[in-house]
Amino acid sequence: MCIVRGMTTEDIHAVALIEKECFGEPWSEAQLQESLGKDYARFLVAVDDGEVVGYVGAYILGEDVDITNVAVTSSSRGRGVAYSLMSSVMRVAREEGSTIVRLECRVSNTPARALYDKLGFESVGVRPRFYQDLEDAIMYEKHLQEV
Ligand SMILES: CC(C)(COP(=O)(O)OP(=O)(O)OC[C@H]1O[C@@H](n2cnc3c(N)ncnc32)[C@H](O)[C@@H]1OP(=O)(O)O)[C@@H](O)C(=O)NCCC(=O)NCCS
Repeated sequence: MCIVRGMTTEDIHAVALIEKECFGEPWSEAQLQESLGKDYARFLVAVDDGEVVGYVGAYILGEDVDITNVAVTSSSRGRGVAYSLMSSVMRVAREEGSTIVRLECRVSNTPARALYDKLGFESVGVRPRFYQDLEDAIMYEKHLQEV
């Protein structure tokens, strides 16, 4: 059974492997360590049978929440893991008094865009050539009253 819990330093190696698997410009263990150490960071992992299969990172800055990343290892996709991670981190943020969640996503990332649609995010604009390879980013927002 998959559970969602707070990420600790012991999870960093596993999360860095997921980053490498999922992204062209993955966060290193050092970057994950530094981010996790920030007092406004709320990082969660999904654990299935003792194995970290996904994670979500959020920075809670007062009323605003910035999702830094969400990723699930390929063999665990399509089972609601990302939905659980996102719902959980938004619940934490709402309990801490945040009211709006923001994130960016590559225009070509159909699975992620479908995930954000399902979670009730709205696309609010485009950042042209936002990524290093110059792909555009879609900006998404969600108000937290009904998480
Ligand atoms: C995007 C990602 C996090 C989704 O993780 P996941 O655990 O497979 O997603 P879930 O199973 O929770 O899916 C929830 C919803 O998202 C949508 N979705 C997820 N994967 C999808 C796909 N391949 N195609 C279409 N819709 C998809 C669906 O609406 C799905 O709901 P449904 O199963 O009821 O149809 C995963 O594909 C991933 O890690 N991709 C690489 C990293 C990445 O791109 N992260 C996002 C950066 S912006």
